[in-house]
Amino acid sequence: MILSGKAKLAGVMGWPVSHSRSPRLHGYWLDHYGIDGAYLPLAVAPARFEQALRALPVLGFRGANVTIPHKEEAFRLVDHRTTRAEQMGAVNTVVVQEEGLLLGDNTDGFGFIENLRAGLPDWQPEAAQAVILGAGGAARGICVSLLEVGVPRLVIVNRTLDRAQALAESLDPGRIGAAAWSALPDLLPEAGLLVNTTSLGMAGQPPLEIDLAPLPLSAAVTDIVYAPLMTALLRQAQFRGHAVVDGLGMLLHQARPGFQAWFGPDPAVTAELHAFVAEGL
Ligand code: ATR
Repeated sequence: MILSGKAKLAGVMGWPVSHSRSPRLHGYWLDHYGIDGAYLPLAVAPARFEQALRALPVLGFRGANVTIPHKEEAFRLVDHRTTRAEQMGAVNTVVVQEEGLLLGDNTDGFGFIENLRAGLPDWQPEAAQAVILGAGGAARGICVSLLEVGVPRLVIVNRTLDRAQALAESLDPGRIGAAAWSALPDLLPEAGLLVNTTSLGMAGQPPLEIDLAPLPLSAAVTDIVYAPLMTALLRQAQFRGHAVVDGLGMLLHQARPGFQAWFGPDPAVTAELHAFVAEGL
């Protein structure tokens, strides 16, 4: 794409940012829709983040995605926040508004749910409880969004039980329980959905060791890890006959609201896009 002087600009701020697939993803859509625009990787060190964020309107950027380790800092620094960003305590999408004000949004929960709905067209959220592995920032967004779509009960399973309890307490203790890993064999038989939100199973991280035998075959399994695309968890689940949803789709769907705000169209997530962004995973 050859840019004009009026090109619409956005990007992703992270540290490091070189591993990010977002430029490839947004670049695909910009090409696909023939938009005069660019989406750049922006390597921003934590000490310079505020300066970089404030520079967005100065440079005429329409906004940016914000990724690790800047999501909480972005939450603190923006001028306004959407309700879903408030619920999550973190911002992953910044939109420059009139007079250079910055609106902070969080589209991770949206991406998670849209990905599940696309991968599991018959999914009935209210039909059964969900078991969530992990209690970090990713787990928070996923718990909020699962409660919102009507999952009756969640159980957060975490190595550090205190953290799971604190997360449950801060969200909705009436609908969220907390448990240690050792409780999994008792929890899985009741689950309709199992979600890994930990980094376990990611390339370079320790494996996620879990026996899925007690999980009913009607339950679906999803993983936010997408490198590798088919994690050991998803492979085991698929082998046993569960419906599985890979984590790359969450990345693709969470990008839609930002793209729409900066460039215009609500972009389509297609099998071709999935394969394009997955290349090399
Ligand atoms: P994020 O914000 O991306 O979710 P995080 O806050 O660092 O990242 O959370 C990572 C999650 O993976 C946590 O639930 C963590 O468990 P603890 O709260 O006990 O630290 C989990 N995790 C990471 N490495 C782990 C390991 N080796 N074994 C078990 N759980 C692990």
